[in-house]
Amino acid sequence: TTTAFAFVALAYLLGSLSFAVIVSRLMGMADPRTYGSKNPGATNVLRSGRKLAAILTLLGDGLKGWVAVALAAWLGPRYGLDTQTVVACGLAVLIGHMWPVFFGFKGGKGVATAVGVLFGFNVWLALAAIATWLFIALVLKISSLAALIASVLVPVYAYFIVGPQSSYFGACIIIAILVVHRHKSNLINLLTGQEDRIGSKADAAV
Ligand code: G3P
Repeated sequence: TTTAFAFVALAYLLGSLSFAVIVSRLMGMADPRTYGSKNPGATNVLRSGRKLAAILTLLGDGLKGWVAVALAAWLGPRYGLDTQTVVACGLAVLIGHMWPVFFGFKGGKGVATAVGVLFGFNVWLALAAIATWLFIALVLKISSLAALIASVLVPVYAYFIVGPQSSYFGACIIIAILVVHRHKSNLINLLTGQEDRIGSKADAAV
């Protein structure tokens, strides 16, 4: 329906708000697409050494994922939207973050936004994903590896938490594929032992 399409389009536009770029601009910092991994995301903003900017990026990118799903789920019954539309909004906000219309389609890797989307789907699913990310990040101190392992496990968690019949389960598989796909350069760095540890700073980030 037209209403469902409007919700999905809105979710994509919301996802296109790259908080790494927005926060950096507001705080008078360099564009994160010019230093470090060149990725507009919280991990790379942290390489500037500005922790507050990284936290705000994480919160902004995470919240938009949650808002897109929660809004569709909340207003859904009033507009006759089904669960498929809620799922589509979750995927659309993530796609907007990865390929943002406002920022030359140069978006992020989707970790924070995916967690926000998972929160909208099912709180336990999100908490399981966060716990996995935190555990790997604390032990190995590599953000991308934590994201990759958490991504692969999210469909497994979803299988048990929401069940294989749920449309959220299918969405989790797509989310995992998208996030892993965006981490190609990280995979190469990991395999060649060149991946950055959390907390190391980028030189050009002034
Ligand atoms: O959140 C993205 C993270 O998994 C990797 O970011 O900047 O290290 O490529 P980055």
